[in-house]
Amino acid sequence: MKRADNVFEHAPRIFASLPDPGILLSTQADGKPNIMNIGWASLGFEWQTPIFIIYVRHCRYTHEILEKNPEFTICAPLDSKDSKVKRALKICGSKSGRDIDKFEETGLTKVSADLVKPPAIKEFPVTVECKVVCKIEQPKSEIDPEFHKYYPLDINSPTAPLTNSPHTIYWGKILKSYVIE
Ligand SMILES: Cc1cc2nc3c(=O)[nH]c(=O)nc-3n(C[C@H](O)[C@H](O)[C@H](O)COP(=O)(O)O)c2cc1C
Repeated sequence: MKRADNVFEHAPRIFASLPDPGILLSTQADGKPNIMNIGWASLGFEWQTPIFIIYVRHCRYTHEILEKNPEFTICAPLDSKDSKVKRALKICGSKSGRDIDKFEETGLTKVSADLVKPPAIKEFPVTVECKVVCKIEQPKSEIDPEFHKYYPLDINSPTAPLTNSPHTIYWGKILKSYVIE
């Protein structure tokens, strides 16, 4: 059962897991769902409309999917210390959907979303269904040098190929939010 909720009422549950250990961002294109861990997110109003904003680096498989189908589902846990939740966040924050099926690998249970294709998740019951209504590339030149460490240019760094890619900011219009019970 899905208990409809005002997204701002369950916002504390979502933000309790941010920026660490993260929440799940569910996307789907060509009939294939994928989940990735996100630690950066914003919730608020623009255009008189409730909006959920996500920041996805170019190199992510999730980015490729969002460009094909601009919809996403936010899935947050009730207890981020639960062992299945912890294991899923670890896998979804380190493995790419290009290489593995993360639903199979984590054993998480897909639940059909009501208004978008990307599924909700039983074990991450706090759910927000969104449709992308705006996107923009975040230019490093406009970011305060304080944060340039998040975009290392040192090609000898083991993480550089993954972390020097810029973020695309996606504004998601909130279509529906609920808790799966
Ligand atoms: C705690 C945590 C938070 C993360 N937050 C983000 C984020 O906000 N944006 C992003 O692009 N990657 C973030 N990542 C990295 C992705 O989850 C990771 O690269 C993932 O394997 C990408 O999966 P994909 O290739 O299937 O899209 C985070 C990782 C962790 C562990």
